[in-house]
Amino acid sequence: MLVCVHADARFYDAVEETRTWGLSILSTSARPAAAWLATPGRPVVDQLARVPHRRGPRTGAALLEDSVATLECATEAEHPAGTHVVLVGRVLDVALAPDGVRPLLHHRGAYAEL
Ligand SMILES: Cc1cc2nc3c(=O)[nH]c(=O)nc-3n(C[C@H](O)[C@H](O)[C@H](O)COP(=O)(O)O)c2cc1C
Repeated sequence: MLVCVHADARFYDAVEETRTWGLSILSTSARPAAAWLATPGRPVVDQLARVPHRRGPRTGAALLEDSVATLECATEAEHPAGTHVVLVGRVLDVALAPDGVRPLLHHRGAYAEL
């Protein structure tokens, strides 16, 4: 899997330290969590207190409950790309939601559904 992380993000600092991370592909019910977790400057401590989540069995990374799929990854490669870093992860574990759970999209500044 790959994600593009802003080089100045606190998340990037954390991933540099742990070399493992959780990836949650959000479902339509996750709009409040998406908006909250995309808020720059939110407090790091207890930022997940209002977000239903569990800890991944392989890495202990936070995985959001309102997801179509969750994955645990270990950093395999990093490619600097302008303001961002393309982070490539080897998948250590994956969990899928039941059929019928649909992904949350973001398009032209608004949330959308398939
Ligand atoms: C729709 C949307 C998409 C975003 N996509 C990314 C992204 O791909 N990579 C990224 O690093 N930040 C992205 N951001 C910004 C981060 O959510 C936000 O800056 C982040 O919470 C700040 O990082 P930090 O809290 O780890 O410092 C996005 C924000 C929004 C609203």
